[in-house]
Amino acid sequence: MTAPVELVRSLDARYYTDPQIFQIERNGLMARTWQFAGHVSQLKEPGAYFTFEIAGQSLFCIRDKAGEIRAFYNVCQHRAHELVSGTGNAGLIVCPYHAWTYELTGKLRSGPNIKAVPGFDRDAICLTSVKVEEFCGFLFVNLDADARPMEDWFPGARAQLTAFVPNYAELEPLQWVEIPENCNWKVSVENYSECYHCKINHQTFATGIIKPETYDIQPQGYCLRHTTECQNLESMTYPVDLDANEHAGDYSSWFLWPMFSFQVYPGNVLNTYHWRAVDADHVVVWRGWYSAGGLDSDIISRLAAQDRGTTVEEDIHLVESVQRGMKSRGYRPGPLVLDPACGVNSEHSVKVLQQWMREAVDG
Ligand code: FES
Ligand SMILES: [Fe+2]
Repeated sequence: MTAPVELVRSLDARYYTDPQIFQIERNGLMARTWQFAGHVSQLKEPGAYFTFEIAGQSLFCIRDKAGEIRAFYNVCQHRAHELVSGTGNAGLIVCPYHAWTYELTGKLRSGPNIKAVPGFDRDAICLTSVKVEEFCGFLFVNLDADARPMEDWFPGARAQLTAFVPNYAELEPLQWVEIPENCNWKVSVENYSECYHCKINHQTFATGIIKPETYDIQPQGYCLRHTTECQNLESMTYPVDLDANEHAGDYSSWFLWPMFSFQVYPGNVLNTYHWRAVDADHVVVWRGWYSAGGLDSDIISRLAAQDRGTTVEEDIHLVESVQRGMKSRGYRPGPLVLDPACGVNSEHSVKVLQQWMREAVDG
């Protein structure tokens, strides 16, 4: 007699609805993982900066005079006024409250009347820095000062992405589209990380871009790597030159746990997803598209519009319905569909993701 098989069940609904669990994730997971900050093209000149928010913390990235990109908490070391807002270019960072002035390296340079203070040690005061790493032109920060480098978290992903997008250094954002979703960030990320729903819900994607029967998702450290072939050329919704590059006929994505994904559409078209969790019931998804110099490209613009009108729109309805369902008294988490052969109709990637989600909350 064979022993009964223990089914792997989906995560309890409270993980997606409980504001206390969201707080645990915000103060823990989001503050100790690599989070997308922006793109290097936003910091072309020394002094260029942009602000952003991670785990409820206001931060900014700036290029210093030696050309190095730095990230800091956006707070003055005097009496906590915020230093900068939006984007801009600064020769020095001057606090709007009492005009304490910092070098672009974060060191305090001057402040009105500070010399009158006996024992004032100017050299001991510096903005609080945050770890920042560039990854194929994209900037990521980690609020954990002891964070391991991205290569340890996502082994091999940088080299693989470079092979798919060898011209990444020329690319700049063509558009970043904001897509608010009324759901927990994990509902959106899980939906992104399986293609079991693709054939039924994403006609255009499944028949005009990729070949679902070749789709698979495998973990690679804390990266979930998606791979598939492109659709037969006569069925593709846009032209692809297969001779342009060894990966021109492939689709691949690299989801970097917990809230970012690089995607390369057939024809080596780079695009990204990044998620900004708002609260237990809301997430904002940003869809990014890139072109050489950020210049308009007919093919990429049309592909982006098609994607926004089909896959993205279709997913909004799915994830918002799931979030409503998570609040139903009638929901009992069902078994995941784990096909030992993996493939498009298996949820093995959701199993991995939910293990990471449980670890983030329960330790
Ligand atoms: S709070 Fe910044 S100078 Fe006083
Ligand atoms: Fe989807």
